[in-house]
Amino acid sequence: MPKSKQSDSKQLESEQSDFKTSESAKEAHKKPDFNPEPWIRPNIRTLTPYHAARDDYHEGILLDANENSLGPAIPTDLPLHRYPDTRLDDLRRKWADFRGISMEQVFVGVGSDEAIDLLMRVFCEPGRDDILIIPPTYGMYKVAARINNVGVSESALNKHFELEARAVLSRVTQHTKMIMMCSPNNPTANVLNPVEIERVLKDFNRLVVVDEAYVDFSDSGSLCRLMDRHPNLVILQTLSKSFGLAAIRMGAALAHPKIIEWMMKVKAPYNVNQLTADAAMLAFDHVEKMHEKVRKIIAERNRLAAELASHPDVVTVFPSDTNFLLIRIKDAKEWYKRLASRGVIVRYRGDQIHCEDTLRISVGTSTENDHLIKELYDSANASDH
Ligand SMILES: Cc1ncc(COP(=O)(O)O)c(C=O)c1O
Repeated sequence: MPKSKQSDSKQLESEQSDFKTSESAKEAHKKPDFNPEPWIRPNIRTLTPYHAARDDYHEGILLDANENSLGPAIPTDLPLHRYPDTRLDDLRRKWADFRGISMEQVFVGVGSDEAIDLLMRVFCEPGRDDILIIPPTYGMYKVAARINNVGVSESALNKHFELEARAVLSRVTQHTKMIMMCSPNNPTANVLNPVEIERVLKDFNRLVVVDEAYVDFSDSGSLCRLMDRHPNLVILQTLSKSFGLAAIRMGAALAHPKIIEWMMKVKAPYNVNQLTADAAMLAFDHVEKMHEKVRKIIAERNRLAAELASHPDVVTVFPSDTNFLLIRIKDAKEWYKRLASRGVIVRYRGDQIHCEDTLRISVGTSTENDHLIKELYDSANASDH
């Protein structure tokens, strides 16, 4: 619940004690009776997937894929003339081990944006089906739906940014194919109550997608632990945030193997490039480095939150389980423009429901944050005169 000024976000801890990480998440693929096929678009159900040259043989004298046998036309020693692996099982295994699930439960793609788009293309019939989103939330769900000519219905979080399962379920119709949630949520920065998420999972007999882009910044842990109980759960993750690898474009969908199989059938054969796959493998070999950076960002986030809270125009610093802060500030739009004119770029979020007069501020380096604070105080003093 948003408290006035800066505060810790510990309110969910007691509710979360029911949801200890479950070893049996690895066993989800042993639910043989789960069959998502009736949810799949009819044209996808009958699709014969593209069969790539490298699906059969990886080694030998490779004359099967019309590659350039003389190598890349740039100065490099990397074998960039070869198509990358189509399945990336080694990377999928590393991701699975990191989250305590099995390789068959992991799809890897070009950022989580690819997974969002692919889920719509696999499950939602254009012109007929809908997704249900829970604003205020990440804007890409709606955009991906619109691109795919999939309808969008909405059930907002309450004004404390909390999920209410009953309200969400009341908006479901026969056309609702997916409910998209984000936890910790962008832009509100809070974790959604897992008890409410589980209620939705239990009572909605289609896909519930939970975007965990910011999960490593929160104490609540991944909802992968619910996958054994709820095969309709799809979790989105990304290397763009906690791992600091936004440039390589690497994201994942974690779900029941039968859902992953359908995504693998529909994805472009060589969706992930080799440089990205190599960097992602390296990321999972250095998880401690990720945790170290996350700890620093959280410390810096708490410092920044305290500084912002004592600014005269700041009304609320909302609790954050992410690497950004949402603040309510008098004349947010003016502040947004004023900061931009002084070279500090933040995001105005005041046009989203329950977010009147808010700015979303990514936690920067300590120097960047000092700069932001200085500009906020200098501009406030200047406008006093
Ligand atoms: C909630 C959420 N999901 C996904 C993404 C994007 O992830 P990716 O870089 O993997 O496409 C973002 C980026 O801001 C985000 O806020």
